[in-house]
Amino acid sequence: MYRYIFLIGTLNAICNGLENGLARTPPMGWLSWERFRCNTDCANDPDNCISERLFQIMADLLVTEGYASVGYEYVNIDDCWLERHRGTDGKLLADHKRFPSGIKALSDYIHSRGLKFGIYEDYGNFTCAGYPGIIGYEEIDALQFAEWDVDYVKLDGCYALPYDMDRGYTQFGRFLNSTGKAMVYSCSWPVYQIYAGIQPNFSAIQTHCNLWRNFDDIQDSWASVENIIDYYGNNQDLIAPNAGPGHWNDPDMLIIGNFGLSYEQAKTQFAIWSILAAPLLMSVDLRTIRPEFKEILLNRKIISVDQDPLGIQGRRIYKHKGIEIWSKPISPVYQNFYSYALAFINRRTDGTPSDISVTLRELGLINNYGYRVEDLYENINYGILFPKTKIKVKVNPSGVVMLKGETQNINKF
Ligand code: GLA
Repeated sequence: MYRYIFLIGTLNAICNGLENGLARTPPMGWLSWERFRCNTDCANDPDNCISERLFQIMADLLVTEGYASVGYEYVNIDDCWLERHRGTDGKLLADHKRFPSGIKALSDYIHSRGLKFGIYEDYGNFTCAGYPGIIGYEEIDALQFAEWDVDYVKLDGCYALPYDMDRGYTQFGRFLNSTGKAMVYSCSWPVYQIYAGIQPNFSAIQTHCNLWRNFDDIQDSWASVENIIDYYGNNQDLIAPNAGPGHWNDPDMLIIGNFGLSYEQAKTQFAIWSILAAPLLMSVDLRTIRPEFKEILLNRKIISVDQDPLGIQGRRIYKHKGIEIWSKPISPVYQNFYSYALAFINRRTDGTPSDISVTLRELGLINNYGYRVEDLYENINYGILFPKTKIKVKVNPSGVVMLKGETQNINKF
């Protein structure tokens, strides 16, 4: 009898939903797109073109530079890895000049470094950069990814009909599942539907995808990061409840260490992405990143806010005259009192730091046994503070102060 129920449960999971057991916390790793785009010119720019060498080098650096040891594990190819046409057998072909050893060899290389391997495709006729898409070849491609030992598939939505996506993304997810190889499934399903004026079915999306894009592609600028922050704040009632272990909103890549963000802005992106429980996918040249940006990306305290096992997406709880406060409930939880990560951000451009002064109670921290409060960038420990305590922070223009308040246990007293 029990075995029978178990079997039905398993079949149900295989047939109806994703529940592949993956991405219990937001995926972390490296993705080529924002920094390396569709550079296919290996003849003139061999060090920066989309080629097996680029991914091998980044995999090596993830390990040797300490990124892997703080949790960055996926090495993900984005667009422009394919030949323009499929093989005569209908199978996808990697560009033979830029990936001469083939995708399986690259996957093996990345696995041999103790890392995981991700790939990009598109639900439509073509990828966004015009390479073959999966439509009409869904099952063949899912099997191919499994044969290549792929751990993560990003499925884009260019050259596809947004109305078809409810069916198409679901179907491809099932094909991935039925290969028997567990693969994180990253969808662009809602963003293309939102652009087409369709209200996405988020309960289906969170059942079938491990993560999904809601909004614009990130570009290498503070303006782009601000747009994304605003989108997630303005639409949080719709978006935030959809996140949880196994299924995450994806505000797009981290651009920290590239050309467009100052040091303060880079700290702000990292803080807000961790409040949002966002996937932490760096898109940066790990060969040349400056140490101060690397230090941001390696900040274990902030990473553990992002990776908190409760998986609750945080929210903007205050916004007035360029000052915002963002809050994320995190563990530990005692007697129904959560701990919190708090990001105070200053969107003002008047050139001098702004003071923010607020009681813990006003921030929603109401446990009368108090909170152990620390600064996550500055390593300042404020000790135990109480709901009536007023905290004061000074926030640099386009910068952030990030605090954690760990709820105190009633039993300790
Ligand atoms: C879309 C996606 C990007 C990237 C490009 C590749 O724009 O949103 O993240 O994958 O396609 O062409």
